[in-house]
Amino acid sequence: MPKFYITTPIYYVNDVPHAGHAYTTLAADVLSRYSRERLGEENVFFLTGTDEHGQKVQQAAEEKSLSPKKFADSVVPRFKEAWRLLNIRPDYFIRTTNPKHETIVKKFLQKVYDAGYIYKGIYKGLYCVACEKFLAESDLVNNKCPLHPNKKPIYQEEENWFLKLKELSKTVLEKIEKSEYKILPKKREHEVVSRLNLGVEDISISRAGVPWGIPVPWDKKQTIYVWVDALINYFSATQFLKGRKKFWPADLHLIGKDILWFHSVIWQALLIAAGIELPKTIFAHGFFTVNEQKMSKSLGNVISPKQLVERYCVDGARYLLISAYPFGSDGDISLKRFDEKYNADLANGLGNLVARVAAMAQKDELTIKTKKPESNLNVGLEINLYRFTKALALIWNEIKKVDVLINEKEVWNLKGNEKQKILTDLVNRVRQIAVDLKPFLPETADKIEKQFKGPKIKSQKPLFPRI
Ligand code: MSP
Repeated sequence: MPKFYITTPIYYVNDVPHAGHAYTTLAADVLSRYSRERLGEENVFFLTGTDEHGQKVQQAAEEKSLSPKKFADSVVPRFKEAWRLLNIRPDYFIRTTNPKHETIVKKFLQKVYDAGYIYKGIYKGLYCVACEKFLAESDLVNNKCPLHPNKKPIYQEEENWFLKLKELSKTVLEKIEKSEYKILPKKREHEVVSRLNLGVEDISISRAGVPWGIPVPWDKKQTIYVWVDALINYFSATQFLKGRKKFWPADLHLIGKDILWFHSVIWQALLIAAGIELPKTIFAHGFFTVNEQKMSKSLGNVISPKQLVERYCVDGARYLLISAYPFGSDGDISLKRFDEKYNADLANGLGNLVARVAAMAQKDELTIKTKKPESNLNVGLEINLYRFTKALALIWNEIKKVDVLINEKEVWNLKGNEKQKILTDLVNRVRQIAVDLKPFLPETADKIEKQFKGPKIKSQKPLFPRI
């Protein structure tokens, strides 16, 4: 039985959701909605959630004088609310503080330990708390973490448990070369392979001085490194949720390019060491910037999902986010550009076409015989290749063609049978557009379907009022 298991990164609770988090989660929603139509609801599993352990969350909680768990409890609803506002429908929202997850993480790591892939060593070096990542000398730019130039990496020297990544990475490389799993877009695979070819060192997978984490099962004085705990969420959800075991291995881990190494090398090394099947595909998309700068709380340039939905409604926000740039590329976003695109594509393009066709059908009180619309195979093909902007371009091309046809034939001037015939065709084409829009703009697709059911079609409120 074909199935589709798709995941997003689990987001750190030290931050509240912004357009960047929404981008990944929305793309996962589009793909899961598309798959549900094809494979059936019960054969799709879409997982998202929050990453709640580690030093960064511990510090953020301290600043608010809350326990880390209470702090996480206060942020989690913000994420759930953001996804609800955007009509994003995951099947499950996992939290790494869920005791069922914690149990599986311990079992998983014990397995890796028993298989001889973990040993005790001394970690000496730098750590970036903002990344929750150990830094090598070669990672530094001006002695700082390249992603957090205003935060000083901290020097650490402590006894830790280490994973034999050097040894495991040989198998990882082999599996990539044999295409046992895919890293997309292809240029990301090249990046990973060339880094693997340079050689990698073993990594620390526990922390001695970070109490906010899952204890190492055989050494209660240490906690499991937050990234190991977090990656295992993809597996643990399938194990502790009823009837979800069949979904492992994951078909697709959607991530941003910032966490590619963790997802395409470290995660695989852990799975190989634990003797568990590997996920099939990792897709890393690009990053949104605002005025060419990173979106961040401290810069005060965060665009939030709530703000987008208030301004453009749910489907407007979904459209603008997903169509902003080819999936996989970086790009700058701004409300000004979103406004323009909203007016051009949604108010004038789609909204206007629907209004025009409905108005003509209503005026002559025509009886329209509709037929069951089929989805456009080419749109599906593009979605399967993660080319959302191309899929949408095909749909908007059709919108334009129908619009041009109305103008060329001056349909509003036609009479009788001829008008009836042409309008029937127009209505059916609009219905097909709605079917193709479904994974992207589910609410709008639904409205159009209902409005254009026939036989009597009526005008309704504009779908996308102009801004
Ligand atoms: N907790 C880790 C992930 C663990 S997964 C096992 C983490 N969390 S995060 O909150 O920092 O979220 C990172 C992800 O959010 C990125 O990989 C990306 O999917 C998304 N984005 C965050 N900022 C973004 C942009 N500015 N643009 C696009 N996506 C962005 O890393």
